[in-house]
Amino acid sequence: MNNIILIGMMGSGKTSIAHELELMYGLDFVDTDDLIVKKQGMTINEIFASQGEEAFRDMETALIRDDLTKLTDTVISCGGGTPLRAENRELLKQAGTVVWLHTSVDEIFKRIKGDKSRPLLNCEDPESRLRDLMDERSPLYRDCAHFSVFTDGKDPEEIAREIYRFVNPD
Ligand code: S3P
Repeated sequence: MNNIILIGMMGSGKTSIAHELELMYGLDFVDTDDLIVKKQGMTINEIFASQGEEAFRDMETALIRDDLTKLTDTVISCGGGTPLRAENRELLKQAGTVVWLHTSVDEIFKRIKGDKSRPLLNCEDPESRLRDLMDERSPLYRDCAHFSVFTDGKDPEEIAREIYRFVNPD
């Protein structure tokens, strides 16, 4: 089967839905943040602090180009900013069926309030930062995705089924 690639904001449920797809349909599972952390031997916070966001974005691009495009039968959970670069959006579209997990800012904020693992939200007003990021990124997610699922009020299993039905219509 074609790869399934999950994109969307931090806290939109990419990892848990990817795990559901892995369990329910026997796909392999990779997470771009986990692969970068493993390769660099540093946390995402440490990478941002020591090398900056642009260097992290270069790592994402290299990972997609060199590793992800070689995978098959895999569900790939992408960091929230992976689709920012046009080059990444093109590579992701070629690497599989891209699904945007669209979650409201209110729901995201409920889930990730107080979580310090995301450098972009370590600021005075993380909720308004999230709103700005959502406004900037929604058109890019839409441009990158073959399909989108609005996730508020749905559980990961239901969303995984919806995605699988889209990828395998018969
Ligand atoms: C980021 C999202 C994070 C991680 C990094 C940057 C972003 O991944 O890649 O903190 O720019 O939205 P998750 O979406 O898995 O939290």
